[in-house]
Amino acid sequence: MADDDTRPAMAPDYPVETERLLLRPIDPVGDIDAMHAYRSREDVCRYIPPVPVTREQLAATYADPERSRSVLTEAGQILALAIVLRETGRFVGDIILIWSKDHPSNGEVGYIVDPEHQGRGYATEAVRAVLALAFDGFGLHRVVGRIDARNPASGRVLTKAGMRQEAVLVENEWFKGEWGTEVDFAILEREWRAQRA
Ligand SMILES: CC(C)(COP(=O)(O)OP(=O)(O)OC[C@H]1O[C@@H](n2cnc3c(N)ncnc32)[C@H](O)[C@@H]1OP(=O)(O)O)[C@@H](O)C(=O)NCCC(=O)NCCS
Repeated sequence: MADDDTRPAMAPDYPVETERLLLRPIDPVGDIDAMHAYRSREDVCRYIPPVPVTREQLAATYADPERSRSVLTEAGQILALAIVLRETGRFVGDIILIWSKDHPSNGEVGYIVDPEHQGRGYATEAVRAVLALAFDGFGLHRVVGRIDARNPASGRVLTKAGMRQEAVLVENEWFKGEWGTEVDFAILEREWRAQRA
């Protein structure tokens, strides 16, 4: 498919099920406490663009329906889903898929898992599910993940999800008070299919 935005909307059947997780739309009221538990933390926000926020700031942010979009209809939009445990319904993190405005056959994935629940493979499982949405359901050509070089756990997540490291952009960005080095990962639709075969 050419690099255009003529594909039909991405409107998954929710919840999206994985072995241990459900990905579902974010409840912009009911999920705020669970999100605030980790989005208020300096350590969680250290290597990602969001800054730690108060509960009120977070509630105000999610009052904007664009922040909890569960259907993609136009390039430039961002799908944002809750990651919850299948067994208990416990909210453990959130994940986004950015549909590139400039390159509508491309997407970018981003994710956060509450430190209380890290180290159990949940981020990897959620990224795999979002790649399936992007490629199987939506027909994207390429999905990238961009991480800070000082965030090896995130590099592991993308590698375990089947993405290749493509680039290291040395001190390309002034980020939270110091120069940050960006490491870019990517996977093409055909690579995704080959891995699943
Ligand atoms: C990055 C993050 C999402 C990982 O979540 P998670 O659910 O713990 O991820 P997984 O359990 O799927 O995988 C983590 C991997 O990183 C490894 N890891 C954890 N800390 C590490 C470290 N300091 N150095 C190297 N590897 C590390 C784990 O051992 C695991 O790899 P393994 O399965 O080979 O043992 C989580 O740490 C987080 O939310 N961080 C803050 C937000 C963030 O940085 N998001 C990434 C945006 S680019």
